[in-house]
Amino acid sequence: MIVCVCRRVSDQTIARCARSGMDFDDIQMEHGVATQCGKCESCARALWSECAPGLSVAHLQKHDEPFQSAALA
Ligand code: FES
Repeated sequence: MIVCVCRRVSDQTIARCARSGMDFDDIQMEHGVATQCGKCESCARALWSECAPGLSVAHLQKHDEPFQSAALA
């Protein structure tokens, strides 16, 4: 699926770049995503954050479970 219509950047491209460790700024520089009209930026950033290694997945925690840090366990 094309995420950035202006620059024809797909979700697969963004995901592949994120998994390889590229920052969002690097993806913008290399592929031009979200550098024209900007309407794709929130979607592109969300996709990047889901795929980037090393980023916390705490935001994916189910809302019906209380947060428990390792220090409190
Ligand atoms: S859709 Fe990505 S910059 Fe316009």
